[in-house]
Amino acid sequence: MEFCVKKAVAGDPRELFVGLSELDRLCVGAEGWSADSFESEAAKDNGIVLYITENDRISALICGYFAVGEGDITSVAVHPDFRRRGLALKLISEFEALLPDDTEDIFLEVRESNYAAVSLYEKCGFQPIAVRKNFYEAPRENAVVMKKSITCEV
Ligand SMILES: CC(C)(COP(=O)(O)OP(=O)(O)OC[C@H]1O[C@@H](n2cnc3c(N)ncnc32)[C@H](O)[C@@H]1OP(=O)(O)O)[C@@H](O)C(=O)NCCC(=O)NCCS
Repeated sequence: MEFCVKKAVAGDPRELFVGLSELDRLCVGAEGWSADSFESEAAKDNGIVLYITENDRISALICGYFAVGEGDITSVAVHPDFRRRGLALKLISEFEALLPDDTEDIFLEVRESNYAAVSLYEKCGFQPIAVRKNFYEAPRENAVVMKKSITCEV
């Protein structure tokens, strides 16, 4: 199935960032990002905010950034009505494609109990490398730090 992935940029309508925040909070609760946070990330030179719309409705998003040879995924959220259709896989793949050529590793953190997300990241080639004790609040929970090394073929 073909999905149309769009990149949010500075100057996009405010409603887009409000919609991204609503989806993020629907999926992860209060720790989801605000519209201001999505807007400011999209405006950064090293920020990447991607989303998928279907019938003018935002069905999925990914947010992250890159710096000094590393990429970092900060948020992935897919609306419950659109899950298990490969949207998250597609967004992670597009995110990777937008990283600079000198990127060596991608990192992310995920709640220890989030089986769906851990399974997704493992399928994308991420491996657990560390545990951050009590990293999350409400509910308090450990974070698993996951890393994917990007092989550069010269
Ligand atoms: C985790 C999440 C982003 C997955 O989105 P998705 O679009 O449904 O994922 P995909 O369809 O791309 O799934 C790809 C693979 O991930 C794994 N996966 C995804 N959801 C899963 C689930 N509920 N249980 C087990 N494995 C799952 C599977 O390996 C799946 O491949 P398969 O469908 O061929 O078995 C989505 O469930 C979500 O938004 N959850 C709430 C927010 C969240 O937890 N975000 C991550 C925070 S770190």
